[in-house]
Amino acid sequence: MTVRVLGIETSCDETAASVVEDGVRVASNVIATQHDLHETYAGVVPEIASRAHLERILPVIRQALAEADTTLDGLDAIAVGHRPGLIGSLLVGVSAAKALAWALDLPVLGVDHVAAHLYAGQLESPPVAYPALGLVVSGGHTSLFDVADPLRMTVIGRTIDDAIGEAYDKAATMLDLGYPGGPLVDALAATGNDRAHRFPVANLGADRLDFSFSGLKTSLLYAVRGQPRGRGAAATFERDASALDASEKADFAASFQRAAVRAIVRNVRRALDTREVRTLLVGGGVSANSRLRSELTELAVEAGLDLRLPRMEYCLDNAAMIAGLGTVRLRAGERDDWSLAASPNSLVAS
Ligand code: KG4
Ligand code: ZN
Repeated sequence: MTVRVLGIETSCDETAASVVEDGVRVASNVIATQHDLHETYAGVVPEIASRAHLERILPVIRQALAEADTTLDGLDAIAVGHRPGLIGSLLVGVSAAKALAWALDLPVLGVDHVAAHLYAGQLESPPVAYPALGLVVSGGHTSLFDVADPLRMTVIGRTIDDAIGEAYDKAATMLDLGYPGGPLVDALAATGNDRAHRFPVANLGADRLDFSFSGLKTSLLYAVRGQPRGRGAAATFERDASALDASEKADFAASFQRAAVRAIVRNVRRALDTREVRTLLVGGGVSANSRLRSELTELAVEAGLDLRLPRMEYCLDNAAMIAGLGTVRLRAGERDDWSLAASPNSLVAS
């Protein structure tokens, strides 16, 4: 019999619901973005995000059920991303999931958002061979994992400062491109010369798998704006991005992207050198990046690895990955009780 799970995701600025069958077939995947609401601030404003989730959560769930051609009675469980994320945002999803599960007398399953990103490459795809190496590259995380199975993983490397997605978003702001910046920098980079500028690729030590993106970010800032006068927030610069023409911006974007992707791929290679894995699992918003996708694809061919790059619609925050991993928990006989709570921290990534 088909196991049908409703997933709910509200950890940041996407309100999402999805119905997934047997943990892999995505019957619906509804995502309401709030980008328009946060654009003016060039970043997510937590209070605005949670209010918008509240307004959107029920219509989004209704739409997910309708598109899956099912009703609440057709569900076997409710899964919800309950950590990590913005606490006020997570609370909306967790409250909705618990209320529905209570009313329908169904199991409720809390799912870790970071672990769910690593499950995204299994959606609409054949089963994965474990152990695997896991790479999560998003707006909040840049981490490498030893993955024993979909529910058990250990961090082996992480960023010591900015997440890579955060660096992309800041690069876009410096280049005056808009928000969210990652996809805009990626698109612009395609038209630029990636060797026009030499930006640093942080290397924290020959045997370390950690990342750092703050040096890259600062190098781009100084290259675009010139030397700062004064310190910290009070610093003024010689110029800003308005002094650049389109091709100069594209060269900055391409050179930034080359360094950022290089930092990731180098540590993935390093991790692979010291472990036997058959699969490389990748997830998070930055796994949509064109250069990262092509460099990882080359690496996987070279290393004979099964590379699981999620389809584009499952790279960014979505509820299908939540429903999918929730189904794995359900099948393992796990479930949560009514004390299930939202938390700003990840269990797997900390
Ligand atoms: O996974 P996600 O939707 O949210 C978090 O869990 O953080 O990731 C969002 C991040 C943003 O920083 C966004 O700019 C970045 O993913 N991103 C990209 C691309 N598409 C999204 N970064 C680089 N290239 C892209 N094509
Ligand atoms: Zn995410």
